[in-house]
Amino acid sequence: MMLLLRLLPPLLPFLLPALAAGQRAAELRLGLRGSPRGEVNPAFLSLTLDASLARDPRYVALLSNSKLRALATALSPGFLRFGGTETDFLIFDPNKDSTSEEKILWELQAQQEACGSRPAFAAVEKVLLDQWPSQEKLILAEQNRKKHKNTTITKNTLDILYSFANCSGFHLIFGLNALLRKGGLQWDSSNAQALLDYCASQRYNISWELGNEPNSFRKKSGIHIDGFQLGQDFIHLRQLLNNYALYQHAKLYGPDVGQPRKHTQRLLRSFLKSGGKVIDSVTWHHYYVNGRSATRRDFLSPEVLDTFATAIYEVLEDYWLSLLYKKLVGTKVLQVGLAGADKRKLRVYLHCTNNLNSKYRDGDVTLFALNLYNVTQHLQLPDHLLSKHVDQYLLLPHGKENILSRSIELNGRVLRMLDDETLPELMEKPLGPGSLLGLPAFSYGFYVIKNAKAIACI
Ligand SMILES: *[C@@H]1O[C@H](CO)[C@@H](O)[C@H](O)[C@H]1NC(C)=O
Ligand SMILES: *[C@@H]1O[C@H](CO)[C@@H](O)[C@H](O)[C@H]1NC(C)=O
Ligand SMILES: *[C@@H]1O[C@H](CO)[C@@H](O)[C@H](O)[C@H]1NC(C)=O
Repeated sequence: MMLLLRLLPPLLPFLLPALAAGQRAAELRLGLRGSPRGEVNPAFLSLTLDASLARDPRYVALLSNSKLRALATALSPGFLRFGGTETDFLIFDPNKDSTSEEKILWELQAQQEACGSRPAFAAVEKVLLDQWPSQEKLILAEQNRKKHKNTTITKNTLDILYSFANCSGFHLIFGLNALLRKGGLQWDSSNAQALLDYCASQRYNISWELGNEPNSFRKKSGIHIDGFQLGQDFIHLRQLLNNYALYQHAKLYGPDVGQPRKHTQRLLRSFLKSGGKVIDSVTWHHYYVNGRSATRRDFLSPEVLDTFATAIYEVLEDYWLSLLYKKLVGTKVLQVGLAGADKRKLRVYLHCTNNLNSKYRDGDVTLFALNLYNVTQHLQLPDHLLSKHVDQYLLLPHGKENILSRSIELNGRVLRMLDDETLPELMEKPLGPGSLLGLPAFSYGFYVIKNAKAIACI
């Protein structure tokens, strides 16, 4: 069969009925001989837990939910950033007595092993889950009115947050409140100090941020802080961290600016000049689109996706996409080229296969592709790979709502958790040697090319 394909390339369209008359497969060029183009951190694809969860501290307890923990664990390793607008409105009160509900929750929890299951928690959890939709409405309404009120967080909040991150295999990054000011000018670190005292006493290994989107502080709070001052505040925080044996080498990230437009770029520049030496990484926020108001069209527009190097259009649900990514895609990035299709609408990426995945071997590679065309596209492996076995993991929306659907199929089977703690097995579909890789309209596919012997992956 392979010989036939090689000798008679013009016959290919007739041998493979999936290809419509006149349609051609896009040809892939894979860089299997060279060194990797780059390497991504194993924590790439990490999570932010929006700090608005703490708006009403009772709901923080939902982080003990076993299903949520199972889902998070499957995405580890990674960073869990606790941050967002609410960061600068959270005030730690070490003496505040927890509400009676929180206390009950915590006592229930303390009876269990640190990361064990919490059967006694189920009844309270049900009440919280039932009430959550109205809490969510309240948070959204506050955000829309752009009115932010201070919220008290307790030791309990920190305990549950840390335990969620740690038990799920995530490293916690905590955003400290930058809007606490002495006379409106210098950062007032006393509240941060109380929080650090507590976290250090519990030996919580945490990395830190200070403030969220300082470029819009004025809009959110009426307080304006320029880049120079913010840089000085970060130096102050670094000195504070140095007072704790546990946090002397803790990472400090910032300044978490929003999209770097003009005014924000200015702020970032002066921040870096003033405080750049004390941070371990520069952070900024990228939004493909606003998840709450985006339309289907936004998600499919190459212009929107082009605003960032990676393409993830299933932002709304896609947990499963992230999971496949974590299981199949390794850290080493390889060269890949495409001929015969618009690269902006048919996006392809090539990495070494994740070497923690026991199904695969060193030298295997994972190709992943996103088809933004409204018709099926086909990819053809280069000649020298036509003898290879390929495992396909094709994700498609499930049901009539199509890409706005909330559930998703892997190789034709709906992906669902088996129970609260068990994820389904991610079953491959083996493709015979020489197969074209068919990607339906608006789909995402991962293809593990077995025995590819990529030099960079051995
Ligand atoms: C969780 O905590 C344990 C014990 O303190 C530690 O050994 C482990 O490395 C932590 N895990 C993460 C992801 O921080
Ligand atoms: C804290 O966690 C980081 C990231 O996992 C790790 O590199 C570091 O060694 C840990 N520090 C301590 C004191 O355990
Ligand atoms: C696909 O999109 C093109 C324009 O990009 C449009 O003309 C065509 O009707 C669409 N086809 C389908 C099947 O939606």
